[in-house]
Amino acid sequence: MIFTVAIDGPAAAGKGTISRAVADRFGFAHLDTGALYRAVGVKGGDPVVAAQTLTPEDLAREDLRTLEAGQAASRAAVIPQVRAALLEFQRRFARREGGAVLDGRDIGTVICPEAEVKLYVTASPEIRAHRRWLELGGDEAEVLAQVKDRDARDMGRADAPLRPAEGAVEIDTSTMTIDEAVARAIALVEARL
Ligand code: CDP
Repeated sequence: MIFTVAIDGPAAAGKGTISRAVADRFGFAHLDTGALYRAVGVKGGDPVVAAQTLTPEDLAREDLRTLEAGQAASRAAVIPQVRAALLEFQRRFARREGGAVLDGRDIGTVICPEAEVKLYVTASPEIRAHRRWLELGGDEAEVLAQVKDRDARDMGRADAPLRPAEGAVEIDTSTMTIDEAVARAIALVEARL
């Protein structure tokens, strides 16, 4: 069975948690596409070469989840050749046999517009920054500034800007518990299966 769940949305909206829960529930494979861009961002050197030569070791680095890696990822992600180098791998993953969940910024718009279920997961910047701060610590005002900076870059870029895909269902997690958000996503997949 080919079945793709495309989950897009801004930084720290809850995409990762929802994606993992949906993948677990239905036995689908999961790809965190942000990790690809983070790995390119932290690899150093020419980002286009980094994207073209990404290895499993690059994706296993322990520093991928830092604020700096997030910023480096979003700076690399504006470069069309970086996005092009990562496209085919993501497309193949999306249409693999057995079902797939991909989360990122352009899954429903560019990588897999034919996805059976498309979700746009969002929340207010303050709530997203608070969640990221609980995860990473540091100075909460600085985390908020970085979240806003990354949102602006991701939404404002010319190539594959972050926006809800056509036909995407929006889940605003600002006033939802994670369990509620997961239940909503699972119900939408179940209805389509
Ligand atoms: O986990 P968080 O939402 O903070 O970020 P992420 O999903 O790990 O993505 C890190 C950065 O990679 C984003 O800010 C985007 O600039 C870029 N990205 C992208 O351009 N396209 C994707 N499909 C996924 C991530």
